Amino acid sequence: MSTVCILGAGALGSLWAARLSNTHTVKIIPRLNKKSSLSGYDFSLQDAETTTTYHLPYLPLSSLPDGPLSENTRASSPSVILLVFCKSFDTLPALTAIKPYLPHHIPIVLFQNGLGSQVEVGKAFPDHPVYAAVTTEGANRKTPQHIIHAGRGSTWIGPFNKQATMAGAKEACAVLADSGLEVSAEADITLRLWKKLAVNCAINPMTALLNCPNGELPSQPYFTARYTTLCKELVLIMQLTIGYETTSDALKAQIDEVIRKTAQNISSMLQDLRAGRKTEIEDICGYLVKEARQQNIACPTITQLYQDVLALATTGSQ
Ligand SMILES: NC(=O)c1ccc[n+]([C@@H]2O[C@H](COP(=O)([O-])OP(=O)(O)OC[C@H]3O[C@@H](n4cnc5c(N)ncnc54)[C@H](OP(=O)(O)O)[C@@H]3O)[C@@H](O)[C@H]2O)c1
Repeated sequence: MSTVCILGAGALGSLWAARLSNTHTVKIIPRLNKKSSLSGYDFSLQDAETTTTYHLPYLPLSSLPDGPLSENTRASSPSVILLVFCKSFDTLPALTAIKPYLPHHIPIVLFQNGLGSQVEVGKAFPDHPVYAAVTTEGANRKTPQHIIHAGRGSTWIGPFNKQATMAGAKEACAVLADSGLEVSAEADITLRLWKKLAVNCAINPMTALLNCPNGELPSQPYFTARYTTLCKELVLIMQLTIGYETTSDALKAQIDEVIRKTAQNISSMLQDLRAGRKTEIEDICGYLVKEARQQNIACPTITQLYQDVLALATTGSQ
């Protein structure tokens, strides 16, 4: 049995916390400034069959370095693991706040969409094994304490910095697979992150700007007019940045499949805009614009999407 620490017990974090709590000791790391007399986090998780309630204890941070943490005691799975489910823009600040309490050998697994936050954490935590996860599980919050597991998917975990190893990724997967969710170790997690980034870049900002579910995109002239150039820009950035060779037709086929499979979904970016919350546009279009600039190439369609979503968030007109 491992101790699984959860930083960011929102929609996705609560899903994993709940599903892992049957087999592991799950502890929730609250915001450091959270003034609460409660001993833990109470919530319910609803899936297609049932709704189950949970009470998971908060972790007193000063106790993080104690317990069965020594490298010598590590058996086939890590005894303590930190799973991070904050939004991309909250991830580095949240981890930095707990850094003084975090022993170097505790693996950190990042679940953020987009790219950028993983790179920042990799740089800021060079002595910690940092892993990145890509997941297609879907969860949302009906209320702050009522989580809905909206769609089953798959999760891949792979080493993201020099301290992290494939053996460590497999150990993390062994723990996370006890959730009953589908989890696999991935040697090239960077490529997987980029592929998901490309799909998210085509769907999330477009649905946010058009205020529509994913499945309506193909019938929206604004989307169809930009779709081919957007895919060409994505293909070129991936080729120059990570050396990944694909074609815009192949990328389109992948994006079309995701649109078909998630036709009824309201993208997280549109959900965030509708609720007046900050979006993850910086780690989706913002990251791509920065990478394109570094490669000295233009990406006018992605840049326009980036600016339009930022403008929409500022005016709050969604
Ligand atoms: N939801 C999904 O289906 C899904 C799927 C794939 C990937 N992802 C990615 O997973 C990440 C999380 O998504 P989500 O939908 O679960 O977001 P969410 O519901 O907003 O959850 C984020 C949680 O992080 C907490 N948090 C922020 N700063 C913190 C800090 N300093 N200390 C402790 N907790 C902190 C927030 O607390 P408050 O509630 O107090 O704000 C919130 O509970 C995103 O990057 C998203 O792109 C999500």
